[in-house]
Amino acid sequence: MALAKSRLRGRLRAVPAAVVAGLLLASGAAIAQDPPEPEPHLVVGPGMQLTQQRCMLCHSVTYITRSRLTLDEWRDTTQRMVRLGAVVTPAEIETIVGYLYTFYGRNPDGTPRARPPGVVPTAAGARGG
Ligand code: HEC
Repeated sequence: MALAKSRLRGRLRAVPAAVVAGLLLASGAAIAQDPPEPEPHLVVGPGMQLTQQRCMLCHSVTYITRSRLTLDEWRDTTQRMVRLGAVVTPAEIETIVGYLYTFYGRNPDGTPRARPPGVVPTAAGARGG
């Protein structure tokens, strides 16, 4: 009886492991097929590291990556973040606003601003940039 029980337990342990593995594979495939929107990482460019340091303390990076704003709108948003508690010097604000407008900018007609060529949002870039 004790033997049968332990065999049963062994089988029960094995099943969830296989199910979990299957779910992981399935979700991995789904992630690979979905468009990366909003991007989970900041794109690499001048000012990215500072933006990451100053702007990711309270919310995820997707607050930025899902946004496309004009230069004035990014400046207003950044000033609003300062009022909410972001600690950024005036010089840092210029760097951050410049970065945000360059990579997450919006043209006056509402279309996303073209990014400099060769820019790819990647996890590796987010660590290195
Ligand atoms: C002290 C915490 C804090 C920091 C630091 C911070 N934010 Fe925010 N941010 C917030 C909160 C809270 C909201 C939600 C505000 C709302 O719903 O009105 C928000 C919302 C946003 C949004 C969403 C759109 C919007 O206008 O509400 C953007 C974009 C954004 N933040 C960008 C930034 C940037 C860029 C920085 C760095 C300069 C930054 N945040 C730093 C607290 C912070």
